[in-house]
Amino acid sequence: MKRRFWKEDYRLGIDELDEDHIAICDIMERFVDAAGKGPDNPDVKAIFRELHGMLDEHFKTEQRYLSKTPIPEDDLRNHIDGHLDVLYTFEHEFSKWEEAPEGTAPSGDLSKVCTWVWTELARADMEIGRRLRALREGA
Ligand SMILES: [Fe+2]
Ligand SMILES: [Fe+2]
Repeated sequence: MKRRFWKEDYRLGIDELDEDHIAICDIMERFVDAAGKGPDNPDVKAIFRELHGMLDEHFKTEQRYLSKTPIPEDDLRNHIDGHLDVLYTFEHEFSKWEEAPEGTAPSGDLSKVCTWVWTELARADMEIGRRLRALREGA
C-alpha cells in the first residue's frame, strides 16, 4: 500500500498514541482513495465519519495520556485547542467539497486537505513529545 501520510519519523515511542496515529493515517489513505472516485461515491461520507470518529476518540485518549504527564496545563489546553481547530477546518473543507456541484469537486483538493490535517496534528504531537522528553530528562 502506498503510504501518503504515515512515516516512521512520526513515531513518538508512546505505543498507545502511535497505534492510533497509524490507524488514522490508514483511514486517511482509504478516504483519499474513495474521494478520488468522486463525491457520488457513498463510501466517501462513510469513511469521513469513520475518520472523524477515530480522531475524536484519539484526541480523548491523547488528552487522558498527556494529563498524567508533567506537561503544564496551559500547554495541554493549547494542544487540545489545536486538535479542535484542525477538526473544524477538516469538517468545513469536507462539506465544501461535498457540496460542490457535480463534477467540479477535484479530489486532489481533499488529498491536500488530508495532508494538511495530518501534518498539523503530527507536527504538534512531535513538539509535545519533545517537550515531554525534555521534562522527563530534566526531572
Ligand atoms: Fe495531538
Ligand atoms: Fe495525536
